[in-house]
Amino acid sequence: MTRAVILGTGSCLPERILTNAELEQMVDTSDSWILSRTGISERRIAGPGEHIHKVAAQAARRALAAAQLTPADVDLLVLATVSPHMLMPSTACFVQAELKAFNAFAYDISAACAGFTYGIDLASKYICAQPDMKVLVIGAENLSTRMNWQDRNTCVLFGDGAGAAVLGNAAEGEERGIFGAKLQSDGRLWNLLYTEGPPSMNKDLQLPDWKGPYIQMNGSELFKNAVRLMEGAVKELLAQHHLDIADIDLMIPHQANIRIVNNLKERLGVSADKVFTNLNRYGNTSSASIPIALDEANREGRIRPGDLVLLCTFGAGLTWGALLLRW
Ligand code: UT7
Repeated sequence: MTRAVILGTGSCLPERILTNAELEQMVDTSDSWILSRTGISERRIAGPGEHIHKVAAQAARRALAAAQLTPADVDLLVLATVSPHMLMPSTACFVQAELKAFNAFAYDISAACAGFTYGIDLASKYICAQPDMKVLVIGAENLSTRMNWQDRNTCVLFGDGAGAAVLGNAAEGEERGIFGAKLQSDGRLWNLLYTEGPPSMNKDLQLPDWKGPYIQMNGSELFKNAVRLMEGAVKELLAQHHLDIADIDLMIPHQANIRIVNNLKERLGVSADKVFTNLNRYGNTSSASIPIALDEANREGRIRPGDLVLLCTFGAGLTWGALLLRW
């Protein structure tokens, strides 16, 4: 049976740490508000030369090294982002050039925070159709470039970074691999979280109330939807696979807010030791949040061979879902 499997993971974070104490000097906020309302203590902000494709390429190199593969082995490079280097061409093409992965075709996907999980599902389906393919999936963001640093509602929440996974076909008889995903979107709720582009050069299409190319967010509505929709996706996916939440060895949720994670954990009945979080150190890195967490969990030995791992994701669009894999 053909089944896609994660062969290696990698991540890369910019050097510069921006602490809550520093944010106190920038906007009307406090360390105690940020920590108690979100669980975030610090985040990384890209500095000189740390363009999204450079950080993404470094995460990819680490994933390839872990898989004992080279850039020349990659057949497809998919990069999820909502903060691309340019509108055109794709950031995936910039990463391809950085890596010298010239045997690959490359493109971006835009599914906000759910982008990496959508990408893993996509890679899994390519591999099922063409088992000799090696697919590199990257989630990468430079959200600091899209931030209104005067808006305390958003600027305390997000961070920069990249994570990657390389996938191939499971060996004959192997039980591990991607079992399945339950992915969903609801474009009717687009205005809960969005970033407009630059002003339109076509005056007929210029939005009358253009707010600038910054992240705009309705935090409390997002919060409620995040918990409810991720819970629904997880329950549906588990039911499809005749599994119970107790069968899961590790849950890696989108790292947006520790209160969302705790709510989800309680509703699903997952014990605390089975939930991986690192948002305290990185904030919300959108499409990079799950792959960075997956890589850290992997490198810290939190995932053992044979473990059943559950990814749950939620973001702008709205986009959300859950994905199950055996390590
Ligand atoms: O990755 C995509 C998915 N993202 C999410 O799902 C994010 C979901 N939302 C959240 O994480 C939370 O809603 C937030 C952290 C954004 C906000 O937390 P909250 O407990 O929902 O607060 P709130 O929006 O209800 O605001 C409460 C108060 C407001 O003041 P008033 O109107 O009650 O006087 C805000 O102005 O907190 C105020 N506030 C702040 N105060 C200090 C908002 N941001 C800040 C801040 N520092 N940085």
